[in-house]
Amino acid sequence: MTELHIIVLAAGQGKRMGGDGPKVLAPLAHQSLLAHVLDTARQLHPATLRIVVGYQAKKVVSAFGHGPYSFVEQAEQRGTGHATRCALDDLEEQSDGTVLVLFGDTPLVRESTMRKVIDAAQHGPAILSAVVEDPTGYGRILRDGDDLLAIVEHKDASPSQRSIREINSGMLAAPRPLLAELLRGLSSDNAQGEYYLTDIIAAAREAGKPCAAVVAENADEILGANDRWQLSQLERVYQRFQARALCEAGALIMDPNRVDVRGSLSVGKRTVIDVGAVFEGTVELADDVTIGPYCVIKDSRLGPGTRVQAHSVLDGVETEGDCDIGPFARLRPGTHMAEKTRVGNFVETKKTRLGRGSKANHLTYLGDTTVGESVNVGAGTITCNYDGVNKHQTQIGSGAFIGSGTQLVAPVKVGENATIGAGSVITRPAPADKLTVSRARQMTIDGWQRPTKKEDS
Ligand code: UD1
Ligand code: CA
Repeated sequence: MTELHIIVLAAGQGKRMGGDGPKVLAPLAHQSLLAHVLDTARQLHPATLRIVVGYQAKKVVSAFGHGPYSFVEQAEQRGTGHATRCALDDLEEQSDGTVLVLFGDTPLVRESTMRKVIDAAQHGPAILSAVVEDPTGYGRILRDGDDLLAIVEHKDASPSQRSIREINSGMLAAPRPLLAELLRGLSSDNAQGEYYLTDIIAAAREAGKPCAAVVAENADEILGANDRWQLSQLERVYQRFQARALCEAGALIMDPNRVDVRGSLSVGKRTVIDVGAVFEGTVELADDVTIGPYCVIKDSRLGPGTRVQAHSVLDGVETEGDCDIGPFARLRPGTHMAEKTRVGNFVETKKTRLGRGSKANHLTYLGDTTVGESVNVGAGTITCNYDGVNKHQTQIGSGAFIGSGTQLVAPVKVGENATIGAGSVITRPAPADKLTVSRARQMTIDGWQRPTKKEDS
């Protein structure tokens, strides 16, 4: 296989997007359009990867910083052909190989599709086309049977050409020396006064080179976005692609229109994801994990058989397996749940480890806490971990029973098999195997009378 050089065009403004930044920085699943394109491009292991920037170039460069790619500035946006030439001029004259041109605002094209276009471009240019319902605005594909003859831009097309529904995606591959030569011959004599990359097809044919159009299997792959409504639709298409990949990996998605993956999600066998789930960052779900309706799960690893019930919010959580979470639980970074643990409704945890078989079922806050095995944390227990300046640790030994409404004022330690009476405020160590209670004794006052309502008050 010859060397591959990738050029990503990202110099345009995208006026209709209505934001103040460049279009390629518009978000798709919490990442910019350009970031998605670069992720896919890098899977092809190119020898070089160049990004052509122009409109608000500084913003684009600073959004990406350093990486295995470089930036080329196109000072004036004079068309896709001109942009490609800027990047090609920057490539060593003597480098052969294939050049792949991608658009920074077309994020859904898959790696396998890119490979097909590269393979078709060994002796002449190849483009990716698609057959769509509404071709308005796109360049149209002119062919003679299997032969690609030319691409004509919408604004330059005749009425009969405008009725063609096979359109140009924008993606193109060609041998480098040929592409350089064809780009030098471009003119800007057209409706937009631009140097069109698409014009190299007709020129290549004139030079006797074979031209190929690879038709996208799924026309949705070539979608881009010109305005915010199209961006919303692009997001849904992207999410449907994700949902499909998850099902293929063994998950059951209750409604592919109501799941959002903003980052990377891996699933095991028989993973079930109910409606309204949002995944962020890197999330790993093992076999038999079930996610209930309307959960938000970020940067977490859930072990086999973990059940997350409705409306739970997890961030930075690790479970070892067979755990129960929620409904309405909020687990924050540093939460570690060993096997057979349970965190129930209206429980918040942070930097807390729960040992095997331990439970906090209702209305509790556990922060900076280590809980041993088989501990029962009663309803309304609160670790007072913050003194207004510093955070302090709470340690609860295995087998302890924390009565309801207990406040554990950290730093504090509860011994193994200790029992804490309900309503206690624990400020000193509670010894193992004993009952510790710190509430005032109950008393009953004889002869007390309820006040009665006074006249005129
Ligand atoms: C282009 C294609 C058209 C295709 C359509 C698909 C050409 C001439 N036309 O048209 O056939 O159907 O895409 O969406 O190629 N860019 C630069 N510098 C420039 C101009 C553009 O970097 O001087 C970048 C833009 O940032 C964008 C991409 O190139 O990422 C495409 O530019 P755009 O103006 O959107 O092209 P279209 O008119 O849509
Ligand atoms: Ca476009």
